[in-house]
Amino acid sequence: MPKLIETRADVELMVNQFYQKIRQDAELGPIFDEIAQVDWDVHLPKMYDFWEGILFGTLNYAGRPMPPHFRLTQKHTLTPAHFDHWLALFFENIDELFEGDKAQEVKYRAYSIATIMNNRVQQVNAQMEFEN
Ligand code: HEM
Repeated sequence: MPKLIETRADVELMVNQFYQKIRQDAELGPIFDEIAQVDWDVHLPKMYDFWEGILFGTLNYAGRPMPPHFRLTQKHTLTPAHFDHWLALFFENIDELFEGDKAQEVKYRAYSIATIMNNRVQQVNAQMEFEN
C-alpha cells in the first residue's frame, strides 16, 4: 500500500529501494558498481541527507551534487538516455512506495535536477569531444 513520505525513515526506504533497482539494472548497475565503484556505506547515508534536505529542509547534506557526475562522464560517457532511464527508475520507485504531495514533489525535484545535471554533463561531453 502506498503511503505518505513523512519521516527520515521513509526517505531511507525510498533511497534504499531506489539503489537496489539501480544496482539490478543492466545499464546503470555497472556504472555504479564497476566504473564508479561506489562505496555504498558512504553513498547511501549521503543520499538520505540529500533527499531529506530537499523534502524537509534539513541541512545535513553539505556536498555538491554536480562534480562527481562531471568526473564520471569522463570515464564513461553519460548520455541523455542514461538520465531518462535513471529518472524512470526513480519515478517507478516512488509510485511503488508512496503517494501524496511529498511523493509528487520529490518526483518534480528529481526531474528538475536531472534536467539541469544532464544539460551540464552534455556540455562536459561536448567539451571533451572538442578537445580530442
Ligand atoms: C545517469 C544518471 C546518474 C548516474 C549514473 C549517477 C551516478 C552517481 C555516482 C557514481 C555517484 C558517486 C558516488 C560516490 O561518491 O562514489 C553519484 C553521486 C551523487 N548523485 Fe548521481 N548519478 C546520476 C544521476 C543523479 C541525479 C539525477 C541526481 C539528483 C537528482 C543525483 C544525485 C547525486 C548526489 C547528490 C550524489 C552525491 C554527491 C556528493 O558526493 O556529494 N545523481 N551519482
